[in-house]
Amino acid sequence: MPTADLKTILQRLEDHAHATRSSKINDLFASDPSRFDKFSRSADDLLYDFSKNKLTAETLELLFELARAANVEAKRDAMFAGKHINTTEDRAVLHTALRNQSEAPVMVDGHDVMPDVNEVLVNMGDFAEGIRSAEISGSAGKKFTDVVNIGIGGSDLGPAMTTLALAPYHDGPNLHYVSNIDSAHIADTLAALNPETTLFIIASKTFTTIETMTNAATARRWIAKHCGEDAVGDHFAAVSTALDKVEAFGIPQDRVFGFWDWVGGRYSIWSAIGLPLMIAIGPDAFSDFLAGGHAMDNHFCTAPIEENIPFLMGLIGVWHRNMMGYDTRAVLPYDQRLARFPAYLQQLDMESNGKQVTKDGAAVETQTGPVVWGEPGTNGQHAFYQLIHQGTSVIPCEFLVAANNHEEDLQNHHNLLLANCLAQSEALLRGRSLQEVEDKLRADGKSEEDIAKLAPQKVFPGNRPSTTLIYDRLDPFTLGRLIASYEHRVFVEGAIWNINSYDQWGVELGKELATQLLPMVEGSQSAKNKDSSTQGLLKYLIKARSL
Ligand code: F6P
Repeated sequence: MPTADLKTILQRLEDHAHATRSSKINDLFASDPSRFDKFSRSADDLLYDFSKNKLTAETLELLFELARAANVEAKRDAMFAGKHINTTEDRAVLHTALRNQSEAPVMVDGHDVMPDVNEVLVNMGDFAEGIRSAEISGSAGKKFTDVVNIGIGGSDLGPAMTTLALAPYHDGPNLHYVSNIDSAHIADTLAALNPETTLFIIASKTFTTIETMTNAATARRWIAKHCGEDAVGDHFAAVSTALDKVEAFGIPQDRVFGFWDWVGGRYSIWSAIGLPLMIAIGPDAFSDFLAGGHAMDNHFCTAPIEENIPFLMGLIGVWHRNMMGYDTRAVLPYDQRLARFPAYLQQLDMESNGKQVTKDGAAVETQTGPVVWGEPGTNGQHAFYQLIHQGTSVIPCEFLVAANNHEEDLQNHHNLLLANCLAQSEALLRGRSLQEVEDKLRADGKSEEDIAKLAPQKVFPGNRPSTTLIYDRLDPFTLGRLIASYEHRVFVEGAIWNINSYDQWGVELGKELATQLLPMVEGSQSAKNKDSSTQGLLKYLIKARSL
């Protein structure tokens, strides 16, 4: 249950939201020429502009009070101190230790984990360099040209997203990611590869996930078929916390990279799960990536709430979700290399904060995590932005863009990208009134009859909220900072909602039912206890299958 303080502040926020609901963001700009300065913050080269939202200085004050009433700072300190804040699994939450580049120890249950973390990093570095230099080669002595990561969820999205994001730094072998149990995924990937020059990394925290184990077995058969059973050890490596299970699969110990139960799957890119990224960009660039995450940890831990970017992101998220009633959040990177970032954030945010009970098991009294979705700009502009601008739902948009691109000879592209990014948040803010539309149509020489017909269709309501995050250039350090800032935002929101952001029981039921359904799909067990829809679908499928 919320404490009295928390209840009072939530009520005050609700009253304040009610009073401001009909205000116009445009008017807030008109009445305060320094609004941008007051409602934007920077940390090194990162700029967070939240001025285009329906909030005032009073809103911010109330949100800061909310953070204090919810003890978010104390909860943050408990996380960094290795307390078991993942209460349902009785675990610490310490992905921050994986990027801790200070000399400070990080204690978990009385044990400093930093020597273990650093040892794995050194082993990963040796292996990655070995693959990159061809010192470690395939069974036929050929250099590995392709590395296939087999994993799903956090064991896929992090390395896949970051490999694409850091393409300009990719000077190692080609990287491929197979996650889906759909045979199409592994079949299409293997079709283009030469077994003699392909290395597989089996990435699974638990080493039990059915998708990963099934794809790993298929890859193992492929290597055994083309290179011989004895070649398996040379063509596989693994990343897991379940070292006994990896051994049983037949992967030599010196190719197994461990991590720990205090690293959640969706927070594991910083661990050995980042091995494919390290192979792609090299250990030094990977270290820069960790340094970026660490820099954001320092900012999150030391900057006052009022200046703290992840705090502000989280508090504005709570404002949107609970006080403004927005159901979704669009993440719109104007950065093609962040194409997988919205998908990555979907797991990070929705698996963490898609919860309906508090840490104490009571039903939550407010809405929790929103639906997170998005696509890179400018592509989205030609697809779903219509609804964002003129649809009936208000969707807060988060724009991300680099001040500088990597392609020095293509500045015209980047200028256009920047102009489009700024244009979208401006359009959402200002809209276009009926009067403006009519004046424009009149100036274009349209008849009064056409104007009456067309004008309502061309009105933009405006007054739609957005934030913009600008970074200098998408390099490893910056990417590390970006990801860590979103992780901490998820933390802040979860701490205010008093939910456990670090478990994921909501994925279990589907997994159990799939296991139950498999013999029914195979036709070896009757489905008579299933609902009539499931029975009907099964019957149809069994008949339709040509096996
Ligand atoms: O089913 C959800 C989940 O447990 C995620 O939390 C996790 O990232 C993913 O599956 C993969 O799990 P593992 O790394 O154990 O294979």
